[in-house]
Amino acid sequence: MADSAANTIRLNKFLAQSGVASRRGADALIAEGRVTINGSVAQAGSQVAPGAVVAVDGTPVSAERLTYMVLNKPVGYVTTLSDPEGRPTVIDLLDVLERVVPVGRLDAMTSGLLLLTNDGDLAYKLSHPKHGVPKTYRAIVRGLPGSAALRKLTQGVHLDDGRTRPAEVTMIAARSGGAELEITIKEGKNRQVRRMCAAVGYPVMELERIAYGPLTLGRLGVGTCRALKPHELEALQAAASGG
Ligand code: URA
Repeated sequence: MADSAANTIRLNKFLAQSGVASRRGADALIAEGRVTINGSVAQAGSQVAPGAVVAVDGTPVSAERLTYMVLNKPVGYVTTLSDPEGRPTVIDLLDVLERVVPVGRLDAMTSGLLLLTNDGDLAYKLSHPKHGVPKTYRAIVRGLPGSAALRKLTQGVHLDDGRTRPAEVTMIAARSGGAELEITIKEGKNRQVRRMCAAVGYPVMELERIAYGPLTLGRLGVGTCRALKPHELEALQAAASGG
């Protein structure tokens, strides 16, 4: 988990990530006094804060590598970058220097897979309704929906802001007082799954996103994040291009 109070990165790591030199090479540059942070000559062990200007021989170095993270969002965290109610934000859980932002939203009370990136082009394409990237949720609902309710969810439900597009809905298990459903939608209306289930009379008690396009949560622990693997990024790029 990141220490949000000190969301800094060691200078040699920063330089290595920026492709300037290996960490050892970066150490040599620092020792030679060729590296500055915000205009002051850096020392071995210096830390770089977000937004700091690092320069080598007077030439600024950019840290903004394209970064793609997947987080298993816990319940209670907001996906906005700050919250007027003071709730914790998902950014507090990241340990990257790059300014990644969530792709789409999850409600504070929804847990599960959240993609974060600083690749604005990919984020835009993934969120565009044209591509209809599927998102799969595990919902625990109150009551036991029968086939009529499941059919309505599948075919489309009238909500205040329009009818939902066809969804895939599978009854996974009946539980005491409720049922576990797996629901895949290809759009992203606000609180869509909660509103769909409530509209057919089965309010959601727990909601977790378990897949986003080709990405799945796998064994990622709640509250932890990891970088996307190259094959995951490729699959995501294909999904964002309608592939
Ligand atoms: N649908 C919801 O109701 N909430 C979410 O967070 C995501 C989808």
